Amino acid sequence: MNKNLRKAVIAGNWKMNKTPAEAKELIEGIKPLVKDADCDVVVCVPYVDLSVALEATKGTNIGVGAENCHWEKSGAFTGEISADMLTSMGVQYVIIGHSERRTYFGETDVTVNKRVRAALDSGLNVILCVGEYLEQREQGITAELVSMQTKIALGGVSKEELKKIIIAYEPVWAIGTGKTATAEQANEVCAVIRETVKDLYDAAAAEGLTIQYGGSMNAKNAKELLDQPDVDGGLIGGASLKPADFAEIVKAASR
Ligand code: 13P
Repeated sequence: MNKNLRKAVIAGNWKMNKTPAEAKELIEGIKPLVKDADCDVVVCVPYVDLSVALEATKGTNIGVGAENCHWEKSGAFTGEISADMLTSMGVQYVIIGHSERRTYFGETDVTVNKRVRAALDSGLNVILCVGEYLEQREQGITAELVSMQTKIALGGVSKEELKKIIIAYEPVWAIGTGKTATAEQANEVCAVIRETVKDLYDAAAAEGLTIQYGGSMNAKNAKELLDQPDVDGGLIGGASLKPADFAEIVKAASR
């Protein structure tokens, strides 16, 4: 498979960090450092930072994403944000199915699928997260589980729509723990995801799919992970809050 057919994408996931003023400052810090990037660069920010992020990234090579969206267009869903609300602002990306949403907010493969569908219907690019807990890795069911998460999340998604999806493999035990998957472990599961997509669609769809690794990726370990044949990018938590570190990862992704 030819990796150069695929887009390399480095996305920051800021999680619940940064006020609007701080968001502006962080983006101003990132901007000059990634302006010559040879890969796609995205920042996924808290809802309240979206306006500021869109304004600060205008005319730059940085895309802006949200960290979730609801599956309904509108209605009585206190505290939720619809995909249409995001696109109406000019937001281009949305993270769906992050393990923190699944673990702390009760999201299931089924609700993840509904959110993916709504995001696609609104024209958003989706960063779909999958990944196993440590117990599941120790049980030896990582491949089966990640494959199943992928299949359920992509239910009802056409081959054409798949072009708007990036899948992020994030082993839960590696998130925010400083414990990165080895490059081999990351590649092995990214390859399982690609194989699953090949089964669901076809070889061309699988070959064109951008798959990111996420979980304690940093300026030091990024290159080795990103050099793996099935790892096309990164979803970055902690290190995306530090301009120099984030820029170093972007550099490592440039081919
Ligand atoms: P860390 O990079 O902080 O481990 O977070 C990874 C992540 O969850 C990105 O979505």
